[in-house]
Amino acid sequence: QKSGYPSFMAKEIHEQAKAISDTLLGRLENNEIVLDEMHIDPSHLRSIDKIIVVACGTAANAGEVVKYAIEHWCRIPVEVELAHEFRYRDPIVHERTLVVAISQSGETMDTLMAVRYAKEQGAKVVAICNTRGATIPRESDAAIYLHVGPEIAVASTKAYLGQIAACYLLGLFLAQVRGNLYGDEIEAIMRDLEEIPGKIQDVLDNSGQVEKLAHDMVETTSVLFLGRHVGFPTALEGALKLKEIAYIHAEGFAAGELKHGPIALVEEGQPVFIVVPSPRGRDSLHAKVVSNIQEVRARGAHTLVIAEEGDTDVEPYADVVIRYPETRTLFAPLLTIIPLQIFACELATAKGLDVDQPRNLAKSVTVE
Ligand code: F6R
Repeated sequence: QKSGYPSFMAKEIHEQAKAISDTLLGRLENNEIVLDEMHIDPSHLRSIDKIIVVACGTAANAGEVVKYAIEHWCRIPVEVELAHEFRYRDPIVHERTLVVAISQSGETMDTLMAVRYAKEQGAKVVAICNTRGATIPRESDAAIYLHVGPEIAVASTKAYLGQIAACYLLGLFLAQVRGNLYGDEIEAIMRDLEEIPGKIQDVLDNSGQVEKLAHDMVETTSVLFLGRHVGFPTALEGALKLKEIAYIHAEGFAAGELKHGPIALVEEGQPVFIVVPSPRGRDSLHAKVVSNIQEVRARGAHTLVIAEEGDTDVEPYADVVIRYPETRTLFAPLLTIIPLQIFACELATAKGLDVDQPRNLAKSVTVE
């Protein structure tokens, strides 16, 4: 069933273009987002004044990515909290809070307990889930399914992209119901989102460079990941992938934190991945990240730069430039994570590890 791939993880990485086009299939009709399992009254959705995303691991990183989009489109504050932390801190949840529970399996015990707590407080819960009929969507008021197909490898890849895409649909749906965005605006955003599967395929078709990099770095014992804005959760997720399957010490940082501590780690030859936003994006985001590359390079880092096609500003400071196609800033995480998934998968494979069944980990964590 691995269809010629050396692991399920490799197969699932390479299925991501199709997976995301399936997540998006049939969700836009006459300039309107249609979510068939969104059984929450529109008037209730208009009364929401806060969103809390609860999830664990990779699903929590997906939550951190979509926070930017949902706040931008809906102007509702979004908090993202690890489900196991949320449960134990007496969180402020009430009828006007919308809780979004992200879980590939739909069975993660801590996320389920967070859902139960939220419901007891009178909040409505939307489950973002890949497994039909799982406990979390059953106990939630509404569900958005990923439709990415079963994920067999323990390390989540296509479900991560599916979770992000499904939450974008939720964000657009809320913006539509609440009157933050109009039909033509939603249509324009969806058109760009629908171009993402083709761009994912472009990234996958050009993965040879990252595969070679992973083989060259098989002896590496520590890798750092930097990003800003939506690039920050991408850095966290890239580091998580490398830890869990390649057993390499890896840390993701917000690039702005560098001078508050992490830069002390950088010494001659330290590999650092830097996720660079589009140079066409707003504010000085891009320039800030380019200067972060310079900072780590000046201290001897081996800079592995993930940058948009045509971004020449990074070239003087990059030891390696990995390209991704142009897209909206908010959608870039669906592309920029892919080289990092491939890097972890290839490196673990090159080390002879069991990529699909990493030590000490289970696919579904049904204990607390
Ligand atoms: C990492 C990974 C885990 C899961 C986490 C939540 O690759 O797979 O971090 O994301 O255990 O699992 P679900 O989404 O099933 O609740």
